Amino acid sequence: MIDIKGTPLYLEFAEEHHFKNSAGWLADQDINKLSDLGKFRNPKPLVPGDMENGIVFAVMEKDFRESAIVDSEHIGNISLNVVGTNWIHRNMDLSCVFIKNSWGKGYGTLAVREVILYGFKTLNLNRIGLGTVIHNKGMIRIAEKNLMMPEGILRQDRYIDGEYVDVVRYGIVRSDYSREVK
Ligand SMILES: CC(C)(COP(=O)(O)OP(=O)(O)OC[C@H]1O[C@@H](n2cnc3c(N)ncnc32)[C@H](O)[C@@H]1OP(=O)(O)O)[C@@H](O)C(=O)NCCC(=O)NCCS
Repeated sequence: MIDIKGTPLYLEFAEEHHFKNSAGWLADQDINKLSDLGKFRNPKPLVPGDMENGIVFAVMEKDFRESAIVDSEHIGNISLNVVGTNWIHRNMDLSCVFIKNSWGKGYGTLAVREVILYGFKTLNLNRIGLGTVIHNKGMIRIAEKNLMMPEGILRQDRYIDGEYVDVVRYGIVRSDYSREVK
């Protein structure tokens, strides 16, 4: 478990029950317009240590009552996905999804920050990238707030609701990160 200090959030490696929860969120068409994750049913579950494809974290929110933690809710998933076919390049792509009633609370920004930290410090990555559809203002803002640089547009990269849509790519490399984050 990775506690996100000073917040009600923590991360754990996603397991089968988390994937069952998130399969329901991904059926939502509002989410499908922003993310590719829901297009395929029963994506292959990733388990801790399954580094062939990447790592998925479940984002958990602690439920406090009278300052005691009574429960936790699974509110999102964030993955670091392997790019290409080998580890030589130390490069992964990030993607995430959160349940709708958690949107707009800053949780996406915080959880992505923690996963970037994990990528550089624990996995010894050199680069973390992401791509999102050009109308995904929330994800673009999360990338900017986490010091990712815009790296270009993939024209008509996704087919959504009968139209081809551009994708904007963002990335952060270890040297940017070490310079900016103490
Ligand atoms: C995109 C998503 C991850 C954002 O998560 P979130 O927890 O709501 O994000 P935050 O609360 O940290 O907000 C980050 C910033 O984006 C802004 N933002 C969030 N949603 C926005 C929207 N729909 N339009 C404009 N700005 C938005 C917030 O105001 C905040 O900026 P600020 O700090 O300057 O005010 C979430 O909406 C989601 O899960 N969407 C569906 C799946 C998806 O799009 N995944 C990404 C695919 S790569």
